[in-house]
Amino acid sequence: MNLKKTILSLIILFSISLFIASCEDDDGDKSFAEENWSAADQVRGGLLYDKFWKVNGTTEPTTDFDPTWSTQSTNARTGSDTWRCKECHGWDYIGDSGRYSEGSHYTGFSGVYATSSHDIDAIFDAIKDEDGDHDFSTVLSDDDVLDLTKFIKDGLIDISLFVDANGAAIGDSTNGATLYNSNCSACHGADGNTIDFDDDDGDQGVGFLANDNPQEILHKIRWGHPGSSMPSMVGSGLSDEDSGDILTYAQTLQ
Ligand code: HEC
Ligand code: HEC
Repeated sequence: MNLKKTILSLIILFSISLFIASCEDDDGDKSFAEENWSAADQVRGGLLYDKFWKVNGTTEPTTDFDPTWSTQSTNARTGSDTWRCKECHGWDYIGDSGRYSEGSHYTGFSGVYATSSHDIDAIFDAIKDEDGDHDFSTVLSDDDVLDLTKFIKDGLIDISLFVDANGAAIGDSTNGATLYNSNCSACHGADGNTIDFDDDDGDQGVGFLANDNPQEILHKIRWGHPGSSMPSMVGSGLSDEDSGDILTYAQTLQ
């Protein structure tokens, strides 16, 4: 009887340890992205998309992002600009179907908006692309790539809901004024001109830029401006509609 009990306990113990081992195996099979997804930071991802070296402290690139950059010749920029996600995929995330479908920024490269429906491992691998033509593994850590993956998976917007084909923001300017005065005017002033973004070219404040490049400014309102004290409105808990309303009001400032 005692022997039977002992054998039974041993069998139970053995099964439990097998079960635990199999759980650990499952964990081991999880990708880096799956395992760390809950810690991924989409606000940091949005800033990395803009200008990653201002965010992760790497050295600003001096070469071109090759081989990919050299596959086009319409956009004549060189050096660090050619490494910025936005330079190829756009502030509106639709690359050559959006604002960069023409003009000096045209590359012919597609956007990343459609990619947000892909699974997180596919997005992660497409960005990092170690040893491929899109290899960011030398300048972005896995945590950086994960934050970018989170931004692409959860942070992108359909630009056509916020800015029309003529560049006019489609929001509620009255709500935007209230939100501008509580979230922006302390730094940029009630008229938007406290900080002049371009010392050479006349007054270029918030109103000027909101009209000149609404797609870019909506990105900056939502995520902040890399390397500055400017806060992210997504991070502050504002909805995307609220950010669109701020843009709409900002277009009325001159
Ligand atoms: C020099 C231009 C260039 C830069 C800079 C660039 N990409 Fe790309 N990216 C491409 C090209 C070209 C492709 C391939 C598109 C295709 O296959 O249609 C691509 C593909 C992707 C894809 C996969 C798209 C898909 O649907 O499969 C993702 C995601 C992506 N890039 C994200 C990024 C991120 C994030 C950054 C910044 C860290 C970045 N890219 C910087 C040119 C660029
Ligand atoms: C804590 C201060 C602060 C707050 C709050 C703030 N900003 Fe900024 N913002 C800055 C700084 C600093 C810069 C960078 C200026 C520079 O480098 O020339 C900047 C940059 C910008 C730019 C220019 C980006 C570019 O491409 O050069 C715009 C547009 C802008 N802010 C709009 C806004 C709006 C709209 C809000 C409210 C949602 C806001 N900011 C809130 C400090 C702030």
